[in-house]
Amino acid sequence: MIKPDAVSNGHIGAILNDIIAGGFKIIAMKYIRLSKETAGAFYAVHAARPFYGELVDFMTSGPIVAAILEKDSAVEAFRKLIGATDPAKAEAGTIRNKYAKSIEANAVHGSDSDDNAEIEGNFFFSQVERF
Ligand code: CMP
Repeated sequence: MIKPDAVSNGHIGAILNDIIAGGFKIIAMKYIRLSKETAGAFYAVHAARPFYGELVDFMTSGPIVAAILEKDSAVEAFRKLIGATDPAKAEAGTIRNKYAKSIEANAVHGSDSDDNAEIEGNFFFSQVERF
């Protein structure tokens, strides 16, 4: 996902460029604004965390880009491309290092396992929306 901060700061194109240059194939993509219900459900795994309410508010503050990406070892490769959750700790050249401002407004989300990639892909896309 490209998050509301990166969208409103005009970084959609640059981030997609980095993703494609990183060798990822885009299988599905959509530009949408999440409702509180949808964002809350997407991040349900974090429901008990103290930042959950703010995370849902932030993720519904503007449109996002959701995408399914394909590459060998895609989860690991994408996490490397985006850098640490906290942009202050993200390596130079990573997407969060270049485009993120804070741990909450951290420009992008990437799935943390193959199982979650499948769950999150199914959350946003039906089979007929995939190439
Ligand atoms: P993301 O990869 O989308 O998964 C959960 C998100 O919670 C995370 O990125 C951060 O943007 C957000 N978040 C906000 N505060 C914190 C925090 N203190 N620790 C971890 N994640 C946080």
